[in-house]
Amino acid sequence: MADTDPPRDDGTTGDEETMYGWRVRSVRRALAERDLSEGELTVEDLTELGHLDQYHYFGPAACDEAAHVLGLDDAETAGASGEGSSRRVLDVGSGVGGPARYLAATTGCAVHGVELRGELVSLARELTERAGLADRVRYTVGDAAAVDLPTDGYDHAVAWLVLLHLPDRASALKRMRRAVRPGGTVLVEDFTLGDPTPAQERALQNVVDAPNVVDRATFADEFRRAGFTGVGTCDLTDAWTAWTDARYDRFRERRAEFTAVHGTETYEARASFYRTVRDLFAEGAVEGGRVTARVPPAAGTDAATDSLPLRDRSDSRLDARDLSGILEGGRGD
Ligand SMILES: C[S@@+](CC[C@H](N)C(=O)[O-])C[C@H]1O[C@@H](n2cnc3c(N)ncnc32)[C@H](O)[C@@H]1O
Repeated sequence: MADTDPPRDDGTTGDEETMYGWRVRSVRRALAERDLSEGELTVEDLTELGHLDQYHYFGPAACDEAAHVLGLDDAETAGASGEGSSRRVLDVGSGVGGPARYLAATTGCAVHGVELRGELVSLARELTERAGLADRVRYTVGDAAAVDLPTDGYDHAVAWLVLLHLPDRASALKRMRRAVRPGGTVLVEDFTLGDPTPAQERALQNVVDAPNVVDRATFADEFRRAGFTGVGTCDLTDAWTAWTDARYDRFRERRAEFTAVHGTETYEARASFYRTVRDLFAEGAVEGGRVTARVPPAAGTDAATDSLPLRDRSDSRLDARDLSGILEGGRGD
């Protein structure tokens, strides 16, 4: 965050406002626009909000792919007994809870979201309650690098676009490793470093608030150093370059519609942010990557029986044709 950013009236800085402050307001405005300010909601009502609900690339399609890779969508391996899965998932940096709700609703798993920002957690809890998922999806306000989590308390951990923001990535990964049970699995999607110019490094730091992006090989090594095994990577660069390019174009096409609901200032700030991210990908300054890995099975156990599956993990089915989750109401139209 830029040292020169003055605090705003609400105590946040301009950068925080650009990154997250707009989101709580904008979710409420988008719901009001749909006459959904109060009362019950469906997960579909929320996924229709696109980037306001899931703040990562490919939104629900990326969650579906994660569920496939982790085997959450497999009734047999997920332990479904007609009443849903018994799997426990830790979602690190859970935002307003879009991915957590979607995974719980589509696979029957239970999700615990950990999120740094209290205002995002308050909204996440409210939306989750209204969507009827509060019995299976809960949230804790906390720093991924310092939060107390139960040892061996989860079968999986996921994190979408969170590590790039963390000053202490190693501590966060060690906590995830301890929290996931032996034989359990993790899936993390994040920026990796390409070949940035000094100006692009500054944009990453000051605009994207991403101080510690590392190259893909280092990204994988971080998991090994944290004690994970079977580390695999998937290159998402082409898909993310296409997605961030399409996001910027579509956002501009919807200028009038977006401005009518969220205002000109929010539009301009978002357009500038989306353009910066598009350029970082298009010019090779950053890339997209997914790491999947496993917590080593306990000594003396039958690893084949106790370990959860990791499927098709070196390939991604996401491509530019699937623009789900890109903007409000914009599911690949
Ligand atoms: C790009 S958003 C992604 C949110 C969510 N994973 C999603 O896909 O909708 C990154 C999130 O990480 C959160 N975050 C940043 N630093 C964090 C930290 N140290 N501990 C926990 N969450 C953090 C941010 O507040 C934000 O909600």
